[in-house]
Amino acid sequence: MLSEKTINIVKNTVPLLAQAGTVVTEHFYNRMFSHNPELQDIFNMANQRSGRQQFALFNALAAYAQNIDNLAVLKEALARINHKHASMHILPEHYPIVGGHLIGTLKELIPEQFTPEVEYAWREAYALLADICITEEAALYEHNKNNHGGWSGTRQFVITKKQPESALVTSFTLTPVDSKAVITHKPGQYLGIKVKPEEAQYSEIRQYSISQQSNGENYRISVKKELLPAAGIVSNYLHSLDEGSVIELYPPAGDFFLRVNNKPVVLISAGVGQTPMLPMLQTLLSDTSNQAVTYLHACENAQQHSFNQFLADQAAMHERLNYYTWFNQGGEGADFIGLMNISAVAQQLPLVDGDFYICGPSGFMAAIKQQLLALDVDAERIHYEVFGPHQAL
Ligand SMILES: Cc1cc2nc3c(=O)[nH]c(=O)nc-3n(C[C@H](O)[C@H](O)[C@H](O)COP(=O)(O)OP(=O)(O)OC[C@H]3O[C@@H](n4cnc5c(N)ncnc54)[C@H](O)[C@@H]3O)c2cc1C
Ligand code: HEM
Repeated sequence: MLSEKTINIVKNTVPLLAQAGTVVTEHFYNRMFSHNPELQDIFNMANQRSGRQQFALFNALAAYAQNIDNLAVLKEALARINHKHASMHILPEHYPIVGGHLIGTLKELIPEQFTPEVEYAWREAYALLADICITEEAALYEHNKNNHGGWSGTRQFVITKKQPESALVTSFTLTPVDSKAVITHKPGQYLGIKVKPEEAQYSEIRQYSISQQSNGENYRISVKKELLPAAGIVSNYLHSLDEGSVIELYPPAGDFFLRVNNKPVVLISAGVGQTPMLPMLQTLLSDTSNQAVTYLHACENAQQHSFNQFLADQAAMHERLNYYTWFNQGGEGADFIGLMNISAVAQQLPLVDGDFYICGPSGFMAAIKQQLLALDVDAERIHYEVFGPHQAL
């Protein structure tokens, strides 16, 4: 428990953080990577360059300081962080390093306001937050280690099948080198994948949603090639690997997964945001209920339309599945042309009681969320996953 004094001091520091803005987190990361360069093997340096990770950490710190006397409101945000950390095997011994650089940063950036009393309060507050994270992450590690097919840290997997799904997306079936079972994942969860491309200075970890239902033997991921120059370290490396190549995986993680509650479900994706939807769809269609399922998918054109045959087959086999597609650039094969407009199918949607799962670029998800809210869908029934550091829509 934190004292009243500590709570007040930390809360009073929020405006200082807000004034300093992301300068705090930028300084923090520069400081940490110069003192602890080994951590560049864990952090996604592309997210550092684009500023997205700085923004996510900054928001988390400000939210923590603001809610330090009511941590329950941060439960969801903390769970998301804990799962992301677990997908990269962040360990208790990392926390004092991060805490030390955080305190060092505040001392260096706001020396006048960061008095010994303020420093003491922040040390206490960080220790509490670290403790919460360490405990939650330990539970995830225990689960991963002790359940059938589970493991701890990295495990070697061989690419047993490489299947192009469209012009940009290729699926990889990943089977453990030891040929033993793999732990079950919840539909929608992702894997942390660790690789070291020859030209990269550090190991790289990225998350990829598992694009098929659990089968106990292998996982499948489906990866989009990044076309921007100088980007795509891991995705393009994966595309360059042949069947038979070996990569390292951390166990499944992630708090974006299908809630099984017998309510009608609407899955909504754009581009490679399809991946978490596929195991959700398989799970929904393989249950014995007769619950309606709707899948709405948007992509640029027919060439970029992944899994089309699979989805058309599912729609043909299951009367309770309604499947609608949008091609932004037009062309044959879609139900609608242009950007996804939910009102075109609103009459078929369970707006009053359904659960809505969204995945795709942030702009797409924000637009869809607004459309759903305008149709009176409660925010609590809208779930989404960002393929990068989390952003509020
Ligand atoms: C939970 C989760 C699930 C995911 N699931 C999938 C999935 O199923 N399929 C999939 O394909 N991807 C998925 N992703 C995304 C994936 O993890 C990677 O982010 C993606 O493959 C790009 O990584 P990369 O190493 O190829 O590209 P990076 O080299 O990391 O580049 C990625 C982006 O970073 C930016 N960038 C890079 N360098 C710079 C620079 N110098 N300056 C400014 N910006 C820069 C660019 O915008 C670039 O497009 C998921 C991500 C998360 C978090
Ligand atoms: C209490 C302290 C910490 C807080 C508040 C915190 C917060 C966060 C947040 C908000 C994210 C973004 C999550 C998302 O993807 O949405 C994140 C990701 C991450 N954190 Fe932490 N973290 C803490 C400690 C640590 C420690 C000790 C390490 C290990 C050195 C670490 C390593 C990482 C990494 C590698 C990522 C992913 C970065 C990326 O993909 O760009 N964090 N953390």
